[in-house]
Amino acid sequence: MKESASVHKLLFVCLGNICRSPAAEAVMQRQVEQAGCADRFEIDSAGTYGGHAGEGADPRMQRAAAKRGYRLTSRSRRIRVEDFERFDRIIVMDDVNYEQVHRMAPDRESAQKIYRMVEFCRHHQATYVPDPYYEGAEGFEIVLDLLEDACQGLYEDLMA
Ligand code: 4NP
Repeated sequence: MKESASVHKLLFVCLGNICRSPAAEAVMQRQVEQAGCADRFEIDSAGTYGGHAGEGADPRMQRAAAKRGYRLTSRSRRIRVEDFERFDRIIVMDDVNYEQVHRMAPDRESAQKIYRMVEFCRHHQATYVPDPYYEGAEGFEIVLDLLEDACQGLYEDLMA
């Protein structure tokens, strides 16, 4: 049986849960699989907006991710207050996500579980992961570049 204390439970959050956070989920999943420790991670994603609930990832994000070998399989769902109990870290993509998730936190301990994705970037200087929804194809590549950098940094941070 798995030792629950040694399992890292991560929830990635963006607005719609169809572009940035499902991609973050897939990038992090591959990171831990390549490191041979997928059994020590529980990785999920959610959105602050429920308008796309039940949908798969945006086809533009799926295409950009597929070019790098990622398969996005998650279905969009809205973040719930129970997620603060279920996850150790809630990792948001931008400042609006941060504000909205922070407002949902039931107590201070829960609020301390919220992180910004770019905190873990080691190579990029971005202050947030930009919403690619209304952008062209390049926006999706920028998102993936930031997510790959941040997921490696996040993994190192958790292993330190
Ligand atoms: P995401 O992108 O937050 O990275 O999933 C968006 C998805 C949908 C919308 C905005 C951003 N929307 O307005 O429906």
